[in-house]
Amino acid sequence: MIKNGLSRQKTEAGTLSQPNYSGVGQKTRDLIDASKKDDTKVYLLQREKYQDIYLWKGDRILFYKDKMKIINGSLVTAELVKNIWLDMNYQGIAKEGNVVFPKSKKPESQIRRILQMSTNKNDLVLDSFLGSGTTSAVAHKMNRRWIGVELGDHCYTHCIPRLKQVCDGTDQGGISKKVNWQGGGGFKFYELAPSLLKKDKYDNWVIDECYNADMLAASMSKHEGFKYYPNPEIYWKQGQSTEKDYIFTTTQFVTADLIDTIHDEMKDDESLLICCKSFQKVCETKYPNITVKKIPNMLLGRCEFGKKDYSLNIIDMPGDEDAPEFVPVGPPKENIKKQKKVKKKDKNQPELF
Ligand SMILES: C[S@@+](CC[C@H](N)C(=O)[O-])C[C@H]1O[C@@H](n2cnc3c(N)ncnc32)[C@H](O)[C@@H]1O
Repeated sequence: MIKNGLSRQKTEAGTLSQPNYSGVGQKTRDLIDASKKDDTKVYLLQREKYQDIYLWKGDRILFYKDKMKIINGSLVTAELVKNIWLDMNYQGIAKEGNVVFPKSKKPESQIRRILQMSTNKNDLVLDSFLGSGTTSAVAHKMNRRWIGVELGDHCYTHCIPRLKQVCDGTDQGGISKKVNWQGGGGFKFYELAPSLLKKDKYDNWVIDECYNADMLAASMSKHEGFKYYPNPEIYWKQGQSTEKDYIFTTTQFVTADLIDTIHDEMKDDESLLICCKSFQKVCETKYPNITVKKIPNMLLGRCEFGKKDYSLNIIDMPGDEDAPEFVPVGPPKENIKKQKKVKKKDKNQPELF
């Protein structure tokens, strides 16, 4: 192994290394020559900015203590990490996360090192190429929040089962033992909606037929900056941007009569945006507190549509947004006992999200 210009060799005397004669200064060369001629002494070269060099029979003596560092309060053997991490072992990771993902899976210990270097607890970790779910699994075990994106079917066959096992504490592989992972937390799972608009055979933008009325209303609220929260009693109050500003999306042809009916129900200080496929011209100017706009015109130019692969288009469907989509059943009894013991031991351990 070549390291810092020294080649290494083990002898009965301990670890010695052969200095790179042509790569060192004249003082060191003189000392190497002198020590080669006299094996009764250990020669010492004291250096101001660098470590002292001890030479015996022309070889440098390496001291184990130079490899020791205090990390997290303990004295351990350690070396500064450099650009190439040869100490990360890919062998034996096939079973990590209890999912098989040949040739693509990364070791949990590698992701842990990256997250240790670049994030703190509760930070948000994004992996938009999730694969078998390693990044999210490790981020979760390290008490980071995370977003994982995956377009392949292994989202269902790998990522979800793996992350469920992380949450319920049954994933005891990878870094689990190192971080004393006992389970906890949960995650929400979303499928991306299809593109809202697509082109028909006449090259006109139309709303994709797979959007039902609720999806369309939710989507328009999102696009227009309203919170989608349909009022169960008043049909045109589908979402709000402020306390008195509402949005109503409809696929009906909007007539002056419809606008009149809605306006009668509105309080003086309320305003409304109506998004529709088509409307009577008069509706545009009928009431100052009612704005009528045509989908898709109002969306064109603001987003990319009709692509298989485009930026995130997450639609929050109505409901309690704080409720996790996946609620873990919790760790098995055996782990709960362990968890309680751990809590007693370490009261400062932060709550999992
Ligand atoms: C090399 S794998 C990642 C492996 C992962 N680090 C692990 O340890 O399992 C890359 C993944 O990115 C996914 N992918 C490729 N293009 C994508 C895209 N545009 N959006 C989401 N996922 C994508 C692939 O399906 C594949 O599963």
